[in-house]
Amino acid sequence: MKSNLLKQILIQYDEARLEEEVALRAREAEAMEKIPELAQLRSASISSLAKRARDLILKSNNGAGKESSQELDNKKDQQLNQEAIEKNKEKERKLLVANGFPEDYLTIRYRCQACKDTGFVGDLVKEKCNCLIQRLIQETCRQSDLSSLDEENFDTFDETVFPDLPLEDKGISQRDYMVQLKNIFINYTKDFPNNAKKNILFTGKTGLGKTFLLNCLAKEILDKGSTLLKMTSYNLFDQLFSSPVSSWDKSQHSLKDRIFSVDVLIVDDLGTETKRNNITNEDLFNILNERYLQKKHTFLSTNLSLKDLKDWYSDRVTSRLFDRDNTMIIGFSGQDIRLRPKK
Ligand SMILES: Nc1ncnc2c1ncn2[C@@H]1O[C@H](COP(=O)(O)OP(=O)(O)OP(=O)(O)O)[C@@H](O)[C@H]1O
Ligand SMILES: [Mg+2]
Repeated sequence: MKSNLLKQILIQYDEARLEEEVALRAREAEAMEKIPELAQLRSASISSLAKRARDLILKSNNGAGKESSQELDNKKDQQLNQEAIEKNKEKERKLLVANGFPEDYLTIRYRCQACKDTGFVGDLVKEKCNCLIQRLIQETCRQSDLSSLDEENFDTFDETVFPDLPLEDKGISQRDYMVQLKNIFINYTKDFPNNAKKNILFTGKTGLGKTFLLNCLAKEILDKGSTLLKMTSYNLFDQLFSSPVSSWDKSQHSLKDRIFSVDVLIVDDLGTETKRNNITNEDLFNILNERYLQKKHTFLSTNLSLKDLKDWYSDRVTSRLFDRDNTMIIGFSGQDIRLRPKK
């Protein structure tokens, strides 16, 4: 089942690569037609490469027994070849720009630069690329919710949805406060994953932009090539209920394994999960503690106040949640923007 899934995903990777190669050929044909000098440049490059290859073969046939001087010649040839290729590429780029094309028009467009859309990285030992791991997460953890990232990200962040009215507890307007948060978290994602504080806790009443900001963070972090799992607390604990974390076999490839292994775990709406006495506390403690020990990032949002959290969860949980050395605690306040008059 699992290897089938991997196979299916790798077939999709092959198809995507093929598609991109076809698209590149089409761009090449278009550019050659519009820029005749480009076609000349390409054919001159091919002839010169072919000539060099011929020379190399001839030299190696004539040079039996003179390995060291021949090796030196080969190296020089390779260097000259490389320089010639670079020069021609530079000429190509200039020609493209001069004719109104983007300079990377004839460069293959990989979705993932790290693995060049093969799904694997590393020279000698091949390992799964993070983009492939993320695909597996999305396929296997069906509750992982990343469906809103195209609409909710730093590019679509619109501060005008927040009232330009002062916040009693902060001395600035709700709008200015949200702009400050936006800038703080843009910088956070720039520093990611080397942030001093690995945890983020958003607290505040409904409709203040907590989930939106979590989505902004998620989008940026995924674009950086890290792995991420985002779930509502309700879904997370509902799934965990069938088998508590303490009884997990961590080698299994499942949601439980992902909870520990992903670079970032996002738990939205903490406090909305069904209360199951000590089980929720134990599971939450194990998740926070294990991820803390592994220096992995965990982001949470909640409608509960810090006092409610203390009443709701065990001391062991809140001591980790409120550990300011490792957690940025951000309070949201102001008016519920879901209730604002629509434009
Ligand atoms: N920065 C923003 N730019 C544009 N729209 C936003 C922004 N922040 C929030 N919104 C929109 O406002 C609505 C409420 O935001 P969001 O869901 O993030 O609130 P919340 O604090 O998570 O609420 P709850 O506690 O009920 O989950 C959503 O429709 C969201 O798309
Ligand atoms: Mg929310």
